[in-house]
Amino acid sequence: MLVSMKSLLEKAQTKNCAVGAFSVGNMEMVMGAVKAAEELNTPIILQIAEKRLKNSPLELMAPMMVSAAKNAKVDIAVHLDHGLTVDCIQKALDYGFTSVMLDCSLKPLEENTALTKNIVALAKKTGATVEAELGVVGGNEGDTEEHIITCTDPDTAKKFCDETGVDALAVAIGNAHGNYPVLPELRFDVLEEINNKTDIPLVLHGGTDITDEMFRKAITLGIRKINIATASFDSLTEYAKNYLSTSETTDYFTLSEIMVQGVYENVKRHINIFNNKEN
Ligand code: 13P
Repeated sequence: MLVSMKSLLEKAQTKNCAVGAFSVGNMEMVMGAVKAAEELNTPIILQIAEKRLKNSPLELMAPMMVSAAKNAKVDIAVHLDHGLTVDCIQKALDYGFTSVMLDCSLKPLEENTALTKNIVALAKKTGATVEAELGVVGGNEGDTEEHIITCTDPDTAKKFCDETGVDALAVAIGNAHGNYPVLPELRFDVLEEINNKTDIPLVLHGGTDITDEMFRKAITLGIRKINIATASFDSLTEYAKNYLSTSETTDYFTLSEIMVQGVYENVKRHINIFNNKEN
């Protein structure tokens, strides 16, 4: 069932777990993520970032993502990740996305605050959830520009959330998008302070390569949404590469099933960690 992201984050808060937000770029990725969520009877978020729309156009992806959510046996929110333009955010809302992110984290605070307020007003019209970001998450989000990490300032986070009325806040605590060259040292002290000062669900970007222990610790400190992109793209690619290089005969239909399987395995692994159950 298609639901608001806010409702999923609130439930995660009461259960002291996090909701996996899985990036998708084609039909197989959508199918793999939904299959894992249904099998584990766990809600998820399906998301796509504005910068990825060059490869996977919104007019094709959006109806598919929304339809997959509506037809799923579990609750699913559909989210625009790293929205950069009002135009794209408005289009996502028009397609029925139940959540949008405005990423103005590289802009000055006053500008980030003002622009985020506008998006909160826009999203209110459809009841969609709004995520914003403060501080600078490392790596890149689909372009060639590498960002230098700047941790979120806890006092600024409190002020920003109060002024803008956002529903979820993405934090920078040493995390980065893409594969980490070395294991990151997440600043749990900073996360704890942000969590103590704000009562908003917090979002961890750059989930790929983060260890199970780090995820669990982050969840105890208020992380309620965890973004996973690269790990799913990599898993799909590895499964496909393995099938194509080891099979005597290959065909598209088997390849499609293999791609679904690659994403399913990765999503399932992460859901099991994010559910935060001792098993
Ligand atoms: P990864 O590609 O590192 O998993 O990051 C995902 C993400 O944060 C998307 O916004």
